Parts: sequence; structure tokens; C-alpha cells
Amino acid sequence: MLKKIKNIIKNEDVFESNYKPHQILFRKEVIEELTNNTYNLLYTYGWGDNVFVYGEKGTGKTLTVKYLSKELEKENEDIKKRLGAGVKIVYINCNGVRTKYQIVKEILKKLKNQDNLKRGLPTCDYLDLLKKHLREHPVNLLIILDEAHAISKNDRDSLFYSLSRLKEQDEIGDAKITIITITNEIFFQNTLSAPTLSSYRGYSLVFSPYNAKQLEEILLQRAEEGLIKGSYDSNAIKKIAYEVAEKYKGDARRAILILKKSAQFVENKLSKEEVGKAIMSIERNEMNKYVLNMNDTKLILLKIVNGLMKGGRTPFFDVIYSYYQSVMAYRNEEAQSERNIYRILDKIEETELIIKKYSSKKKKYFYFIEQGGEFLEKMINMEMERRGIYIMDYEENSLSNWNEVD
Ligand SMILES: Nc1ncnc2c1ncn2[C@@H]1O[C@H](COP(=O)(O)OP(=O)(O)O)[C@@H](O)[C@H]1O
Ligand SMILES: [Mg+2]
Repeated sequence: MLKKIKNIIKNEDVFESNYKPHQILFRKEVIEELTNNTYNLLYTYGWGDNVFVYGEKGTGKTLTVKYLSKELEKENEDIKKRLGAGVKIVYINCNGVRTKYQIVKEILKKLKNQDNLKRGLPTCDYLDLLKKHLREHPVNLLIILDEAHAISKNDRDSLFYSLSRLKEQDEIGDAKITIITITNEIFFQNTLSAPTLSSYRGYSLVFSPYNAKQLEEILLQRAEEGLIKGSYDSNAIKKIAYEVAEKYKGDARRAILILKKSAQFVENKLSKEEVGKAIMSIERNEMNKYVLNMNDTKLILLKIVNGLMKGGRTPFFDVIYSYYQSVMAYRNEEAQSERNIYRILDKIEETELIIKKYSSKKKKYFYFIEQGGEFLEKMINMEMERRGIYIMDYEENSLSNWNEVD
């Protein structure tokens, strides 16, 4: 018998990532600071202070900066009248536009409202074109570089140097430039050199993670705007808020996603039970996606950690590495260096499939898989089988003596 699912969503858009809620909650202070130091100055003089905006995922950085930009744009006619030139806002999500070359080109494209630029020019030529355009069409340019941590590490310094130097040089005539850099990398500034930082001269603004209480209010606001009245239980909302504050660093995006997913399980009323199902379903989906997209080395390492744990052994790094070496020997492939494997394990840790810990007793690192273990194991095994990768069991002290698996 099919279970009857009840549609309690009255407006799907409310759960989209670009939805603008009626009110931005809990960000009064950062909004005030951004307004005073950047947006008000832009309104008055055509330029404002550059900013580094920091904060974990889902702390409302994009929402806030975009909201204020829209507000500024509303004043544009007025600004034009007073200053002679209006404000032009170029917003770039650096995910997908990662190199200096791509970013400079993207700024130029957006500035010219033109999709096709002359192709294949070197970066410095696009920079020259950008300067020329600004000289000929003086605007008060606000560049927003969102997800700036995605910018290629090799290019960062040079990109920020070039962009922040533009306004110090006479090459852009009467045009003015303000830059807002948004990132979740708290040490982003440390990756820039002293000369670059001194031309950028930005102040920093931190968006602190939401706590459970705040998430609860954000969720209640969303539920009111997007769900049918009376179709949800306030305890369900509380549960989402507490789980997300605890496990996901107060990521409001995830909280909203869980709310939406929970709504899809409702037969009667959205309650704690649906929330539990939604959280599990989202986690499994993510796990699935990670595992399917892993390269063979990562998959093998994950299987090794899993295998060691199943055998009741602690997956210390050295044990993982020697296991890995034997697997590679068995596969007749060259093993990567210890350093590489160390780095790869750290990469896997970023996806939160494994956790890294330091044992002060043994004075070395070990890795382990926390919850969802059985589901993850099934995923790993299925994916290994699909790829035709086989790994033998780990036998202590007899690394050369593998049980061959057929
Ligand atoms: N203070 C807030 N009030 C209402 N909704 C918020 C608030 N902060 C974040 N959100 C919502 O949470 C989600 C993530 O916010 P976003 O600005 O994209 O985070 P970030 O850019 O910091 O990763 C968006 O759907 C956004 O509308
Ligand atoms: Mg964002």
C-alpha cells in the first residue's frame, strides 16, 4: 500500500537558495557596519571601504551583501544625478570562475553587459581593456567576489593586487572601485602578500554562526512564508534547529533544506519523525554523491579505514599507509608517497566521511568513520564492485600474505 503524502508546501520558492526572506534576522550589527563603511560612502562619494567578509557556510553572508546591494541600486538614479555617474555592481561567484584570467574577463563582460568578448587574449590585455572601458565609461564600480576561497591559490595574490591597485593608478580616469570579498576561509588574508593587503586596505567583518535559538527563528519565518498554516509542529522546528546548531555549525542553508525535505515526508503533520527521516535522507544522498565522485585512490583509502575498523583495529596513519602499499602492490600499481596519502586523507576528511584524531598516547594520527557507518560501507562496496576494485583483508604482521579475493 502506498502511503499518502500530504502537500504542506504553499510556496516552493521560499526554500530556494536565492529566495529573499521578508526580513534578515540577527544581522543588525554587520548590516550597520557594512552600511556605514561601504554602502553609505558609495552612495555619497561613489566609493566605499573595501571589505573582507568572513563566516561559515550558511551564516547569511550572500543574503546580506546582496540585499544591501539591491538597496543601493534602488538609489542609483539619485546617485547618477548627484555624482554624474551611477553605481555598477558586478557580482561574481568564484565557484566556477577560479582564475585571475577568468575573473578579470568576467568583470569586463558584466561591466559591458556583453557575453562575447574578444577571445583568447592574455590576462594583461583584459586588464587593459578593463581600464580602458572604465576610463571611457566612468562608473562607481562595486565588485563582489563571493566564495573567494574558490579562487585558485596561485592567482589570488596577483588578482587582488591588480584589482586593488587599479584605483590607485590614474589609469581608470574618474571611475572608482570598491571591492567586497566574501569567504568562509578565516585565514584568507594570510594567503595574500603584504603589498597586496596594503593596497586592498579592507576592514574585516565576521558573520558568527547561528545558535539553535536563532536558527529556530529563521526556520519559523521560513515555515510561515512557505508552509501551510497549522501543518507543522513547533517541536519539529526546534529539532532541526538543535541538530543543525550542533552538527552543522549553524548552517542556515542546511536547516532550510531539512525543513523542505521534512515537508516531503508528511502524511499528517510535520513532526520530529519527519525531521529524522529528512536528515537521514539528506546525509545518505550526500554520502552517495561523495562516494560516486571519488577517484580510485580515495575509494581505496576509505575502504581501508572501514576494513581496519571492522577488524577491530585503530586506523592509525602508518597502518593505513602500509595496508595501502600492499594493496597497490597487489594491483601491480605504483603507490603514492606517504605525504600524498596524508593529504588525500585530509581531503576526504573535508567531506566529513572520515574524522581525523590525534592519539596523544601513541603520538600519531588516526582516522575513523563515525555514524552512518553501515550505510557508507554498503556504498563503498557497491562502488568498488562497479569499478572492479578488490581489496584483500588486512592481516597484521603478514602484509605479504594476502588472502586473494576473486
Ligand atoms: N539572518 C537570516 N534571516 C533569514 N534567512 C537567513 C538568514 N541568514 C541566512 N538565511 C538563509 O539561509 C540560507 C543561507 O544563507 P547565505 O546567505 O546563502 O549563507 P552564506 O552566503 O553565508 O553561505 C539562505 O537561504 C538565506 O536566505
Ligand atoms: Mg554565500
